[in-house]
Formats: sequence, structure tokens, C-alpha cells
Amino acid sequence: MTLAIPPAEVDFSDPGAPASPIYGDVYHARAGALAQSRHVFLGGSGLPGRWHGRDRFVVLETGFGLGNNFLATWDAWRQDPARCRRLVFVSLEKHPLRREDLARAHAAQPLSELAAQLLERWPPLTSGLHSLAFEGGRVELLLGLGDARELLRELVLQADAFYLDGFAPSRNPELWDDYLLKGLARHAAPGATAATWSISRPMRRALTAAGFEVGLAPGFADKPEMTVAQFAPRHTPQRPAGREPLAPQAREAVILGAGLAGAACAWALAREGVACTVVDALAAPAQASSGNPAGLFHGTVNPDDGPHARFNRAAALATQRAVAELGLAHQPGLLRLETRLAHGDMHGAAGYVQPLTAADASALAGRALGQPCWFYPGGGALPPPAYVQALLAASGATVRLGTAVARLREDDGGWSLLDAAGGVIAHAPLLVLAGGHAQRPLLGELAADLVTQRGQLSHVPQAPWCPAVPIAGDGYAIADGLGGVWCGATAQDDDADPDLRDADHAENLARYARLAGLAAPPTAPLAGRVGWRLTTPDRLPLIGGLAAHGPLAEQLRLQPRRPGLVVCTAFGSRGIGWAALAGQLVAAMALGGPRPLAADLLDAVDPLRFALRRQRRPPR
Ligand SMILES: Cc1cc2nc3c(=O)[nH]c(=O)nc-3n(C[C@H](O)[C@H](O)[C@H](O)COP(=O)(O)OP(=O)(O)OC[C@H]3O[C@@H](n4cnc5c(N)ncnc54)[C@H](O)[C@@H]3O)c2cc1C
Ligand SMILES: C[S@@+](CC[C@H](N)C(=O)[O-])C[C@H]1O[C@@H](n2cnc3c(N)ncnc32)[C@H](O)[C@@H]1O
Repeated sequence: MTLAIPPAEVDFSDPGAPASPIYGDVYHARAGALAQSRHVFLGGSGLPGRWHGRDRFVVLETGFGLGNNFLATWDAWRQDPARCRRLVFVSLEKHPLRREDLARAHAAQPLSELAAQLLERWPPLTSGLHSLAFEGGRVELLLGLGDARELLRELVLQADAFYLDGFAPSRNPELWDDYLLKGLARHAAPGATAATWSISRPMRRALTAAGFEVGLAPGFADKPEMTVAQFAPRHTPQRPAGREPLAPQAREAVILGAGLAGAACAWALAREGVACTVVDALAAPAQASSGNPAGLFHGTVNPDDGPHARFNRAAALATQRAVAELGLAHQPGLLRLETRLAHGDMHGAAGYVQPLTAADASALAGRALGQPCWFYPGGGALPPPAYVQALLAASGATVRLGTAVARLREDDGGWSLLDAAGGVIAHAPLLVLAGGHAQRPLLGELAADLVTQRGQLSHVPQAPWCPAVPIAGDGYAIADGLGGVWCGATAQDDDADPDLRDADHAENLARYARLAGLAAPPTAPLAGRVGWRLTTPDRLPLIGGLAAHGPLAEQLRLQPRRPGLVVCTAFGSRGIGWAALAGQLVAAMALGGPRPLAADLLDAVDPLRFALRRQRRPPR
């Protein structure tokens, strides 16, 4: 995997037909991009009629290009009073356009209002999946940046319509061959269709081999014919048991925990039309781990772009979008000191992470820093309680506070939360366990893999240096806006002491002094806060279903799960940065929508991963 995707070069010399110099082909017919989209792709897929009465309709496109097919499909959805509740448009693109080229491509666009929204949300060109929400989440563009051949192995979804829109098969054969079309067919929902302007014979043979019944329809403009196809395989492909939706029909959910995890799940589920009740033992939301006055969010970089870097990046980009959509006040931008690499060896990705020399980083931070830094323009700092409140308000969830849950019971096609006397607090077909460290007694065997870690933050009221941009290294510092800083944070496993400790303050202040280059730490602070992080051995969260009874399957994707139950917890020291993506994952796993994360990363956060590793290598 590479972090940054090289952008497309677009030749705009013929304004009626932008072209790709690499492929030697035009992005759309000269007779009109939107007219082509409507005739070939919408018409060839039986849209809008086929989405009528549907809860969700999923399109999977090869080649996002200028995005005309997306805009035309979204526009048709908007115009249609009988539209499906949710439209998910998944599109795979190896050479995404730079934002300025996309703007140029849509400068004279009749759908200028929609194009402007697309431009506003256009992501940094980093590899992987980018979930962009429109229409308050009712339209989702899941953009996969990278080679479609690789991305298809990573997608977890069922598509109702395939738009085949590579460059001409003779110039772009990899997007039309047997391998690719079989890869698409693996994602076909029952009754799926495929449409394209091409009538290439090898492509039609490959479609047939992939299980489609292939036909012809009148073509667009100067093309007499085009291809339409219907998925009709001899054997119906089985969806892996571990990827089955956990509560596909749920219209109500109960969520345990009104912290970052629970609030983000409520928001994501509400966007899918699920009415949520959030239950918490405490007197107000965000009173436990999520009650810190300030915290950081940002991605991470590592040279091999491994699972942590990819998960943290997907999460950081999701947070950036959530914060923007909720209009949440925050301190934008984040500096992270780099201690292992020289500036020249640091490779970023525009808009996501940028390497800065020590001099440039110092200018941004307002103090001399001895090391180069990574700058995350979309990262920053925010008060977690305000984020929780904004998520809960946007979700419209019913919040039941002061309500401790003592036990869970699977009953009547759903789950009940019980109080200490055995009374039913709430019942729903979908239960999300998002109760942080305090829910450990409810997690059963899962709790054995988890560690509760105490952490203390310190507040310096009159700080010698308030960083102009939140900064992290060994410890972190966040300006409080009143001449002071919050700095942190300590970490002690299995330590239940709720009291502020002077030794911990001293540790935090020593870190702050090192960040600031001070000769001596400031004098003791007046305030601070103690909280607990729930952590896993591999420092990734637990998001997903629990095992149905019996021995574990050999692969997580094949493991049957208990219906109606999702775990979303163990956010460690990254709850602010992980919550938004985790909520989206929970909603997709519960209801069966396209997962906003690659299949290998779904395994990387699977709550059963530790149990499976133990089963494979039992302790001696
Ligand atoms: C010192 C410190 C500094 C941190 N700094 C950062 C940072 O800079 N950036 C960052 O991203 N993260 C940071 N974190 C981590 C972050 O705060 C956590 O990851 C996050 O708050 C976890 O959220 P949560 O919703 O899972 O848990 P919580 O916030 O603990 O919420 C869980 C809720 O569930 C409720 N609950 C649990 N069990 C029950 C039950 N049986 N019945 C009823 N209610 C129940 C609890 O009352 C609680 O309100 C920090 C953590 C600490 C301790
Ligand atoms: C005809 S254009 C798509 C037009 C687009 N559907 C639209 O509505 O504007 C073909 C696109 O396929 C992309 N492409 C080519 N090979 C690819 C591959 N292997 N994986 C993903 N995308 C690819 C090209 O970069 C190009 O953007």
C-alpha cells in the first residue's frame, strides 16, 4: 500500500470532451456527459424505477473519473419522489482528479449545485476508502482510491447495479477483463444488473463467464448499441457468515453508553433511519473517559502503511468530516514531532499529512522545536463532551441517564437491558455495547483481553507557552484559550486510584517542558482530571459482532455471530479520533450497508481476533 495516490493528468483542450493523455481516451462522449450517464447507466440499470420502495440501493462503478455518473444518479434520486431511503454510490478510481481539475471539469455543469458539494467534500488523495456524506447522510459516495483490481478484494458490500465505465477496453483492458468482472460479481446482490456503453466482445464474454445474462440495448448518441446485463449465476454465491448483517431489519436500537463511542453509534444509526435509545448510569453524557476538557485527534504515518496507519487514517478523515458536518468548534491542525526520520525521508500526502522542517514547524507552533514535524491539517483538538453532545443532538436519540445496566438478556428476537433487580430497562432488536471500561462485567470472555488504564491530565493556568497549534510528541499540549495549557497524559495499567496525584502532574509537566524546550518544568498546576482508557493488546479497538455458540471458525469472515449484538469499545487513547468511523462501521455491520473500511481492517478490529489467535496457538 502507498499513502498518496498520484492524481490524474487531464487534457482540457477540447472543452466538450476532457481526455486522459495516459490512456489516449476521452472521459465521456462528446454528445454530453450527463446525457450519456442518464441513457447508458441510469437507463441501462432500470433506474430510477428499480430503487422504488427500497430502503437502500447500492451502485458500484469502475472509474469515478469526473464524477458525472455519480452526479447524474444523485440528481435522479433527488428528483424522484419515490426514491429509495438511502443511495450508496461506490466508485473505484486509480487516478483521481486534483480538486482544481475537478472544479474545472464542472465549471459549466448544469448540476453545479451538486458539483459544488462534491468539490467541498473532495478528499485528500490518499489510498483506501473515503465515505462522503450528502443530503444529511441519505446519499453516500464511497470512493475507493487505488487500483480497482486490488480494491475489489477489500470491499465488503452487495451491489444492486454495476456501472462499467473504464476507458475503452482496448486502451484500459484491466478494467474489463475476466478477473475484474469476476471480482465485481462477488459483490452482486440478488437481481443485480450491469450496464455500459461498450459492446466489446471479450468484455461481454467475461461478463457471461462471471454469471451475467448479457444483452444489448439501444446505445447513446452515435453508438447504435450498448450492453446491459442481469446477474443470473448458476450457483447463488454465499455471503461469508461473518459478514452477514447483524440486525438487517432493525428500526430501533438501544446503545449502552453515552460517551464518544455510544454517541457516534447513535448518530450513524440515526442516519440509517434507526431510532436510538442511549442508556447511561451517570447523570449526564460524557462523564466518564469522554469527560476530559480537551483532547487530540489525528492520523498516523508509518513507512509500510500498515493496518494501524490505514485504520487511523480512515478514522481521522471520518472525524474531520464529522466535525465539519456538525459545525463543531475545535482547534484545527495538529503538529506531531518526528523523532526517527529526517525531514527529507518523510513523505506525506497533500491535505492529509505534510512533513515540515523543524524551522517551519517552529513557525507554526510559535516556539523553537528541535525536530521536524508531521502536520495534520485535518487533525486538531476539541472538548470531547461538546463532541458527544453534538453527536447525540444530531442523532435525535432518547437519552436515559442515571440508569445502570446490570445484565443483558437475549429474548423475543432482540436484547433486553436489565437493572440490578432484574427489571427491563429497554428492549430492542439491536444492542450496541459502547460502555467503555465500566461495562467490563457485561463483556464476558471478551474482557479477558482488555486492560483498563488510568490516565491523568494536568492543567497549567499561566503557561510559559501556549502552542498556536495543538502539538504531540512524548506527551501533548493544548492551549486552553485563556493563557493556560492542558498537558498529558499519564498511563498506568490496572490502577483504580481516582485522586489526582502530584507525581503524575510532575510527569506531565516534564513532558510539556521537553516539548516547549524549557530549562525547567513550570510550577505545580492547580487542576487536572483522572480517567480510564479501555485498551487492547494490539492498540486497535473492538468493533463487530460476538461469536455464536460453538468453536470459532478458522477465519473471522466465516464466523457466525450472535444476531442483534454489536460491540463498539476499547478506544484506548484515541476515542476522539476513532468514534466517527466506529459509529459508521457499527451501522453498516448491523444493517448490511457497504462497509466504509477494507476487509483486512474489519478483521483487524474484530472483537474475536484475540480468541481466534488463542485457538490457533493454544498456550503451552
Ligand atoms: C487522560 C486521558 C487522556 C486522553 N486523551 C485523549 C486524546 O487526546 N485523544 C483521544 O482521542 N482520546 C483520548 N483519550 C481517550 C478517550 O477519552 C477515550 O478513548 C474515550 O473517551 C472512550 O469513550 P467511550 O465512549 O468508549 O467510553 P466512556 O467515555 O467511558 O463512555 C462509556 C459510558 O458507558 C457508561 N456505562 C458503562 N457501563 C455501564 C452500565 N453497566 N450501565 C450504564 N452505563 C454504563 C458509562 O457510564 C460511560 O458514560 C484520553 C483518555 C484519558 C483517560
Ligand atoms: C471513462 S473514465 C470514467 C468516467 C466517470 N465514470 C464519470 O462519470 O465521469 C474511466 C476512469 O477509469 C479510471 N481507471 C482506469 N483504470 C483503472 C483501474 N485499474 N482502477 C480504477 N480506476 C481505473 C480512469 O482513471 C478514469 O478516471
